[in-house]
Parts: sequence; C-alpha cells; structure tokens
Amino acid sequence: MKPKLVVGNWKMNKSFDDAQDLILDIQNALKDKRLQTEVILCPPLVYMELLTDIAEEEDSQFYAGAQNCSEHGAGAYTGEVSAEMLASMGVEFCIVGHSERRKYFGEDNTIVAQKVKILLDNDVVPIVCCGELLEERQQGIHAQVVEKQISEALFGLKPSDFERVIIAYEPVWAIGTGETATPAQAQEMHAFIRGLIEKKYGTEMAYNTYILYGGSCNPKNAVDLFMQSDVDGGLIGGASLKANDFVAIIEAGETVIKDN
Ligand code: 13P
Repeated sequence: MKPKLVVGNWKMNKSFDDAQDLILDIQNALKDKRLQTEVILCPPLVYMELLTDIAEEEDSQFYAGAQNCSEHGAGAYTGEVSAEMLASMGVEFCIVGHSERRKYFGEDNTIVAQKVKILLDNDVVPIVCCGELLEERQQGIHAQVVEKQISEALFGLKPSDFERVIIAYEPVWAIGTGETATPAQAQEMHAFIRGLIEKKYGTEMAYNTYILYGGSCNPKNAVDLFMQSDVDGGLIGGASLKANDFVAIIEAGETVIKDN
C-alpha cells in the first residue's frame, strides 16, 4: 500500500486570526512526528502566505494548496487568480472541478481540462474532483457520470502530464451532509476509476495515481475508508477546520500504513 495523502479543503471559512491559529495548531501537532502520510492544506487564497511561509520551512509537515485557479493566463480577468501566480507564491497543488465550483460557478469538464493544463504548465499539481449527484446514484448511472468527468477532464493528457495528477472521488450526496459513502461504495468507485486509468495509461500508471475519497470523512470513519485498497487518502472539508479532527484523520493514515 502507498503512503496516504490527506488534503484539507477549508472552503470559504475562517477569519485571518482563526486561519493563523489553525495552521499553527496543525503545525505544532505534527511537529516531531515522522509522518509517512503526506498532508496538503488548502486555505482561502487570501491566507495563502500564512501557509506558504510555514510550508517552505525545512521541517514543515505539509504542502500548500489552493482551492481554485483561473483557466486563463495573465490578463484582464478581474477577481481571478492565475496558475502562474499560485506557482510564484510557492503553491504546489490546486483543487480543480470541485462539485461546489461545478454547481455555483458553472465549471464544466471542458473548463476543468483547461485548468488542469494551465496548472501543469506551471508545475502546480491539480487535484481533480469527480463524483455523482444523489439522483445519479439512485438511477444507477454513477459510474458513467464519473467516467465522463474523468475522461473529458483528464484523458487528453499525455502520460508524462497525467502522472502528475491527483484524483479525488467526492460523491456529491456525501459532501457536508454527514452521510459518508460506505467503505465498500468508496472502494468500488475507486477501483472503477483505477480501471479506467489502467485501460488508458497502463497498469503502472493506474497503481501510482493517487485517488482520494472526499465526503463527510471524519476521525471515526477515516481508518475504515483508508483501509480500502484503492483509497489512497482523503479530501477533507468540515473536519479539516478543527486541528484535532484533522490531525486524527492524518493519524488514521499512519495507522493504516503501519498495519499493512
Ligand atoms: P466534507 O468533508 O465537509 O463533507 O467536504 C468534503 C469536501 O467537499 C472536500 O473537498
């Protein structure tokens, strides 16, 4: 089993002071731990420098990630932030295609593909989200929905680009609802996604690609989810806003790796 990856997506939460406290609390809790689990924090962009200042230190236990970027290069796009700007700030990862961006900001697979490309061109690793709506699962078309999202957003990439991408499966019905996919449901979809990658890019690429689970992942269910052979870690929303809960999820990653 590969070491786990745990990503905290703070979404649009926290004041400046609270953001600073949360970063420091996580940093202190992880300090001196020799973690195998990799950790990425994705705060709101206005707080990014708080994070990159620490993330760039030699003994830092986490990397800096953004929640979004523009699909355009520099220019007259009022209010937007480019992949190039992220890279220039030391941001190494960026979430793309989150269901909230798809729902509220019209981000479709074409835009996701454009963002992935511009991030890769700037050496920022895209964390690409996919996942079905509740009605799509009820209709039994969840696998087709996810296949379309993945193939349209990612399968135009050449292998040397695809190998730098992280995928996050986040069933929309599980996001912020307290209703988690069962470990078996997560495993089934993750194995399906890995199978798609294998068909397109081969076995080694399929094995190496990180596929995270997101949706009401918390300290209680993290071990069971992370124990699934195709679940390489988690994209954590609500539980990443409390240092204790987030650190407990990171420790779940450690537990699973030590036991396997
Ligand atoms: P929750 O963990 O709050 O369900 O959010 C998941 C998510 O959307 C992470 O990107």
